[in-house]
Amino acid sequence: MDTREAIRSRRSIRKYVRKEIPMDDLEDLLEAARLAPSGANRQPWEMIVVTDRKRIADLVPLCKNQTFIEDCGAFFIGIDDPQQKWAKVDIAIALDHVSLAAVEKGLGSCWIGAFDPERLGDYLGIPKNKSITVCLAVGYPAESPEPRNRKARDDLFFFQRYGGE
Ligand SMILES: Cc1cc2nc3c(=O)[nH]c(=O)nc-3n(C[C@H](O)[C@H](O)[C@H](O)COP(=O)(O)O)c2cc1C
Repeated sequence: MDTREAIRSRRSIRKYVRKEIPMDDLEDLLEAARLAPSGANRQPWEMIVVTDRKRIADLVPLCKNQTFIEDCGAFFIGIDDPQQKWAKVDIAIALDHVSLAAVEKGLGSCWIGAFDPERLGDYLGIPKNKSITVCLAVGYPAESPEPRNRKARDDLFFFQRYGGE
């Protein structure tokens, strides 16, 4: 599958078949994240990947009771060093690599921004000088949603200057 196809077919998946993701596939997702670019190549991020069934279930109340999370196969927590200027951009790029690499493996994903950072950080033992930017649930899709609406091309892009053609 080429990148364009992965970008076009990715959807937020909020229904999963409860099935373990093979470790080789998970390692490929980690490698996709590891190769992501970052500001000045500082790579000021880390990830926790929760695959233990019981621990995934524990995450649901920490993520505003988004119950679909319970059936994902791996829950990625994006951690960054808030002292670093581009850290939030960098972790987002790395997790986006994961979400696109997942498509090729027949996996779906859903970004998770609705969570309680304090409680999630405590549960995962994340040091207080680090912050959780965003998470990504990954698993085998049990739904095939239609593409979601996007702004029109002309509402997003200008050539040469703001408001230009
Ligand atoms: C930073 C970020 C946070 C998000 N947080 C959540 C979330 O907590 N729960 C959820 O169900 N979807 C979440 N989403 C998914 C968006 O709702 C989804 O990407 C958007 O509606 C477009 O749909 P699509 O991904 O299928 O194209 C989040 C997406 C992003 C990028």
